[in-house]
Amino acid sequence: MNRNSAFVSVVAAIGGLLFGYNTGIISGALSFLAQDFSLSTLEQELVVSTLLFGAIIGAFGGGLIANKIGRKKTLFLTVIFFFFGIVTMGDAVGFTTLLLGRFVTGIACGLASMVVPLYIAEMSPAKRRGALVSINQLMITFGILLAYIMQYLLAKHSQWREMFAFAMIPLSLQFLGLFFIPETPSWLLQNRGQEAADKVFNKYGIPPEVQVVQKKGDSDWRHLFKPGIRPIFFVGVGITIFQQMTGVNAVLYYAPAIFQSSGVHTTESAFFATIFVGLVNFIFTGISLWLIDRLGRRFLLIFGLAGMILSLLVLGFSFFEPKISSEIITIIALLCYIAFFAISIGPIAWLIPSEIFPLSIRSTAIGAVTFINWACNYVVSLTFLSMIGTFGTGPTFWLYMTITLLGLWFVWKKVPETKGKSLEQIQHFWHKK
Ligand code: BGC
Repeated sequence: MNRNSAFVSVVAAIGGLLFGYNTGIISGALSFLAQDFSLSTLEQELVVSTLLFGAIIGAFGGGLIANKIGRKKTLFLTVIFFFFGIVTMGDAVGFTTLLLGRFVTGIACGLASMVVPLYIAEMSPAKRRGALVSINQLMITFGILLAYIMQYLLAKHSQWREMFAFAMIPLSLQFLGLFFIPETPSWLLQNRGQEAADKVFNKYGIPPEVQVVQKKGDSDWRHLFKPGIRPIFFVGVGITIFQQMTGVNAVLYYAPAIFQSSGVHTTESAFFATIFVGLVNFIFTGISLWLIDRLGRRFLLIFGLAGMILSLLVLGFSFFEPKISSEIITIIALLCYIAFFAISIGPIAWLIPSEIFPLSIRSTAIGAVTFINWACNYVVSLTFLSMIGTFGTGPTFWLYMTITLLGLWFVWKKVPETKGKSLEQIQHFWHKK
């Protein structure tokens, strides 16, 4: 990959970083917001989940907008939504403005989660597509880690406004970078003709296999339910549902609260422990990128999901009253759970959909999968605190464990190995099936 392509991928992937940062920072800001605005449990859940509601809408609209105005302009639009969302959250004077800020930031996150992988995929050679899609996940986890570090540094003086405002730094970098990246050749070819596309092809050295474009009408979402596509869609949707319903964001969004309820006494040490959650998530995502083409997707998924099941079992036990274990067991079980997630279904739930669909329907399918991903995320974060209140923390983690068991069965039975296969071979496999 030449230097130009690397540059455009990084500029686009700052969108992933912002998505990670804005979803992660709430775990630190939440307790201060609850104090300053006297928020009830339901209101706290709403503050967390309204971003996700916005993201569902952003992901849904993202596919349509990116087809209409182009990928690059959609990236600009994402920056604008991020800007207004962050300013509104940072300046919030009460529950309503806070919700509004979270909602607008959510739209930006939804747009980014859809358009960034699409942009990168269209700017990179097919051989590199898997690795580049996964770089987006690495940037998401880096954003989450950055959020955890900032919330630890700013917690001492309850500076929740600054926690939100920090996102302006990567946002400004992306805004400047966007002036130096092109529209994708696939979109240009369809909308502005061969000559416009050729300029980008030549400058970025994009090989001909990327130059295949969709025919008008190919991207109609109804094609997802055609007999030939249906089983593929089933796999893509299944894996995205299990990525979310196994509870990862219950852990990531509420990590400091979980640590405190397990016996970590001060807010500061709970935030400190949370940094390790972010660090483990980031490091193991990096390790996964290295292993993914060596050990294969299926092996990593089965290994990771089995590890998550074991960690959730121990995590559930560690909350039982009367306490039979110390908080250190909770911390270790939680870190193991995140490590197993990050090495497996974290990145692979995005990678598989980018590989298994035929090119003609790929962007529509990724849009649909992204939409379902945010919707499941919404359900988990809206219900987590209430479930803890009703069933207790231990049984709540055991519920996630049961869902992870189902996920393991699903992967075992339904998810094909795509390691080392060309996209044509993958299509041939589905065709034979
Ligand atoms: C998921 C997010 C999650 C993150 C954790 C992403 O793939 O879409 O919901 O917070 O991974 O690393």
